Amino acid sequence: MRMQGKRVIVTGGASGIGLASVERCLEEGASVVIADLESSDGSARAAALDARHTGRCLFKACDVTDTAQVDRLFAETESELGGVDAVFSNAGIGGIAPSDEVSDEEFLRIIDINLNGVFRVARAALRVMYRQGSGSIVNCASILGVFGQSQTAAYTAAKGGVVNMTRALAIEAAPKGVRVNAIGPGYIDTPLLAELDDELLQGLIGLHPLGRLGRSEEVANAFLFLASNEASFVTGAHLMVDGGFTAGKS
Ligand SMILES: NC(=O)c1ccc[n+]([C@@H]2O[C@H](COP(=O)([O-])OP(=O)(O)OC[C@H]3O[C@@H](n4cnc5c(N)ncnc54)[C@H](O)[C@@H]3O)[C@@H](O)[C@H]2O)c1
Repeated sequence: MRMQGKRVIVTGGASGIGLASVERCLEEGASVVIADLESSDGSARAAALDARHTGRCLFKACDVTDTAQVDRLFAETESELGGVDAVFSNAGIGGIAPSDEVSDEEFLRIIDINLNGVFRVARAALRVMYRQGSGSIVNCASILGVFGQSQTAAYTAAKGGVVNMTRALAIEAAPKGVRVNAIGPGYIDTPLLAELDDELLQGLIGLHPLGRLGRSEEVANAFLFLASNEASFVTGAHLMVDGGFTAGKS
């Protein structure tokens, strides 16, 4: 099994891409912490998955906008599982609105979850992983980390920040045995897409050369690769899982 004995934290692990990643890691022998909002389905999901797998599946309530909660997540995981081998910094929200109508509060909220939250998680992970001398951090970016799209100023700014912050962290952490990578999903069929109307969604599907939305498991498989020892010489990468979206126009 590719993740036998590994200890993994997935933020935003109660839904969509995060939940699929939790399930794939459990199938491959890991113990996994679902870190998500108190109001999420994480507690019930973890209980059901824990009963079905040999590795542990725990839920820890954690809002990535709160430094104390993020630091507690890592301290508790280290004490209960004995360490942290891999982290998927996946918690995130969407945000589509005309830029001339976006309030400071809404802009800053998207940045605080999608960019600052990724930094808070990485910082806490590095502290544990430096002590271990090993670890893999994977940040969830997006095609919108490298492409622009109308009415997504805060989201694209945050995801672009995640892509380049990943490179900076990778260089800094490499001498201490820690790898840091990002994944760039195209449009993936998850609850996050609920805010898109059908006409917009059909147009977006047409921008993927493979001609469909991605599935959460397809992103989870990329996380599994980057988290595992199979990616032992991969750091600072932004691995696109986008059905060819960023390859160019036909
Ligand atoms: N679905 C897509 O098309 C797509 C495309 C590119 C990138 N992404 C990225 O993938 C990641 C996962 O998105 P998804 O599509 O699975 O969405 P989702 O809405 O299904 O899941 C997101 C999860 O993050 C959690 N979350 C939200 N705010 C949080 C906070 N402050 N603290 C902790 N957890 C929080 C939610 O409770 C939820 O469980 C996000 O970073 C998103 O930006 C998604």
